[in-house]
Amino acid sequence: MPGYAIEAMNLTKIYMGRVRAVDGVSFKVGRGELFSLLGPNGAGKTTTIKMLSTLLKPTSGDALVEGYSVVRDPGRVRRVIGLVPQDLTADDEMTGWENVYIQARLYGLSGVEARRRTRELLEEFGLLDAAHRRVATYSGGMRRRLEIAMSLVHEPSVLFLDEPTLGLDVQSRRSLWRHIEELKRKGVTILLTTHYMEEAEKLSDRVAIMHRGRIVAVGSPEELKSRIQGDTVYIEPVDPADVQAIVKALQSAGFKASLAGGVVSVPVERAEEVLPAIARAVNGFKVKSMSIAKPTLEEVFIRLTGERLAGGEEAVDTFRFRRMLRSIRR
Ligand SMILES: Nc1ncnc2c1ncn2[C@@H]1O[C@H](COP(=O)(O)OP(=O)(O)OP(=O)(O)O)[C@@H](O)[C@H]1O
Ligand SMILES: [Mg+2]
Repeated sequence: MPGYAIEAMNLTKIYMGRVRAVDGVSFKVGRGELFSLLGPNGAGKTTTIKMLSTLLKPTSGDALVEGYSVVRDPGRVRRVIGLVPQDLTADDEMTGWENVYIQARLYGLSGVEARRRTRELLEEFGLLDAAHRRVATYSGGMRRRLEIAMSLVHEPSVLFLDEPTLGLDVQSRRSLWRHIEELKRKGVTILLTTHYMEEAEKLSDRVAIMHRGRIVAVGSPEELKSRIQGDTVYIEPVDPADVQAIVKALQSAGFKASLAGGVVSVPVERAEEVLPAIARAVNGFKVKSMSIAKPTLEEVFIRLTGERLAGGEEAVDTFRFRRMLRSIRR
């Protein structure tokens, strides 16, 4: 048994001889670990997953999945992995039951085994009640759950989830997170991609931040955030006219205070330790609110790349657009 579930070694994909979608990516994922690729649109997340799941041959480099090379031994890799691609794969015209059952038969389960496994999976993902409805009638969240169920028919030890909660509302997203956490508890190694930083932060043991085909940082959410030095304290006075005087008062108390969008912003190392001193410095003013901002993965990304991660709105539109395209193609 090799030491890692996934080992990417200088994975590179150049499309059409010029688009460097993935540019020398290396990382290791331990058994049972949940590892996220976090990055904006076009960072190379899907291309990386496609290479790791043998759908796409690397231009150069290689990866081992459960010890098998994706270049030399793709058949073996396929037997141990499950994949939920970014583009929807369940058949709209069939029922949830039929989708899972057919998948199970494709993976070589006998009729009896396939029926047992289908029932088990639909139950696990809360879809038994909807089992005999056409997938076209499912909500976005149900559909995602179905697709994960489909990817698990052969009990893979490594699961790839490409943007599993793209376009879902907050509630469906939370429900899906619980299912993903449950799979992790069962020992499945999970590699997921996302451009939602809360998602990466909530689920991941470790995160790789991707930008323009490269990994610019890897670590646990805590490690990555600790790279940003310090917190920010925000102070909002009752009377907006006081802001300048508050900035001056803080500066004479030795703080690097400045004005930020109508509130006073004070960068500090650890907010908890200096809060009393800040309170003393602004003692003469009526303060409406004082708040502490801790570093986020979004801020880490901004510091590393000078760009922002894509916003949620855009993601919803992309999802709706893909669905629309699918329905037109039929
Ligand atoms: N088949 C293809 N031919 C040419 N270029 C491609 C192809 N697929 C992807 N690309 C390009 O490769 C880069 C990486 O794309 P990829 O889909 O891997 O990014 P991503 O991180 O998954 O983005 P998203 O968040 O939008 O899903 C992009 O510049 C994209 O336009
Ligand atoms: Mg993608």
